[in-house]
Amino acid sequence: MASNQSEQDAPLDIEQIDKQHVFGTWAYQSEVSPTQVVAGDGVRFTDADGNEFLDFSGQLMCSNLGHSADKVADAVTEQVNEGAYFAPGYTTEPRARLGQKLAEVTPGNLSKTFFSTSGTEAVEAAIKIARMYTGKQKIISRYRSYHGATYGSISVTGDPRRLMAEPGIPGVIKAPDPYAYGSTLDPMESLEYIDEMLMLEGDTVAAVLVEPIVGSNGILVPPEEYLPRLKEIAHDHDALLICDEVMAGFGRTGEWFGSDVFGVTPDIMTMAKGLSGAYVPLGATIVTEEIAEHFEDNMFCHGHTYAGHPVACAAGLAAVETYQEENLIEHASEVGEYLGKQLSELADDHPSVGETRGVGLFRGIELTKDADGRVPFGQRKDKISKGSTVVDDVSSAAADNGVYVANMINTLIIAPPLPITKQDIDEAVGVLDEALVVSDDAMES
Ligand SMILES: Cc1ncc(COP(=O)(O)O)c(C=O)c1O
Repeated sequence: MASNQSEQDAPLDIEQIDKQHVFGTWAYQSEVSPTQVVAGDGVRFTDADGNEFLDFSGQLMCSNLGHSADKVADAVTEQVNEGAYFAPGYTTEPRARLGQKLAEVTPGNLSKTFFSTSGTEAVEAAIKIARMYTGKQKIISRYRSYHGATYGSISVTGDPRRLMAEPGIPGVIKAPDPYAYGSTLDPMESLEYIDEMLMLEGDTVAAVLVEPIVGSNGILVPPEEYLPRLKEIAHDHDALLICDEVMAGFGRTGEWFGSDVFGVTPDIMTMAKGLSGAYVPLGATIVTEEIAEHFEDNMFCHGHTYAGHPVACAAGLAAVETYQEENLIEHASEVGEYLGKQLSELADDHPSVGETRGVGLFRGIELTKDADGRVPFGQRKDKISKGSTVVDDVSSAAADNGVYVANMINTLIIAPPLPITKQDIDEAVGVLDEALVVSDDAMES
């Protein structure tokens, strides 16, 4: 009895319980050791030991509004209390108004949306819509890309996480990427290669699917003329252009969408993450008026129980209104330029920084162990191998000093909440300055 009582009084070891009963994602479970976090406020969050972190990656590049967007939190509470869930056959005010709002903030004649609950599902819907609309099956996507975790979306993903899901869905063909720093192909040559692919495939390709600015695979910004020309090439071959804006969307680039940076209206656009500021799970797939019109008399053969979930749509509507009311897109553009300058200065002081690149508050620091040969510390295969890389060590060093910065393969990914200030940026860059000594010291002499 006494020992039962003391067991009840002992504080729960949440990290241990979690490790025992919950899968860590994309990981060897023996290597998973989650830190318990308890609170978020503005651009910062706190762990259970009271350590505070400046969130320099917006968690998984999704907390675009920061951790205290009251309007979104209030909208969620209100909708839960008024009517948490109704079947997709009904409509609700938040769903209808968010659909209208997305037609307003997305480029050109994108006008009709299918709502889901993740970026993965948004991409699944895009693939199915492209196939239903064109009557063709093939999708061209690129090697350095991430589009989601389920079979369709991981099949169109190019990064090594796809390998364990292969052969995946049929009809997916991979193309090269615009990656000036790390590829032997010039970005514009890679584009002409896609033209050639489309020609050689005959009239069998439904869509070309790209992230307008590649996110987790290294923040790859194509040349200005790349995306407009890609749309032209796709249309020349009667294929659609799908832009996956799950990470690049909602102010990240200093424009509403990555496509806006290049003045392009895709035929289909996918969104998630910043759409709700990550307050609740929400994904969306928006299509042009012409594609929407097609489904008037052709079945839209797709849906989910939670398609257009009222609480998620209420959060999305409040999030988009917050971007507008607080001028967060303009702010991201302004502080994003400042961030870019600070990162280039950082590069000057650290030989292990191969390149800094990006747009707005969407930036990457690619590391190298041999600057002349541009030899990466982290290789693609490391993404699915055991153990940590030097890039992981740099992220850990930053965390030890109060800055959370995500990384993938060989690039530190900087995507802070949009309300970040220049002062916050100085603080985080100061910590990165110290952390990068780890990679400088690990360079090949
Ligand atoms: C460009 C892109 N598309 C799709 C996804 C998948 O989104 P989710 O993880 O919400 O399913 C991601 C996630 O990082 C992404 O970056």
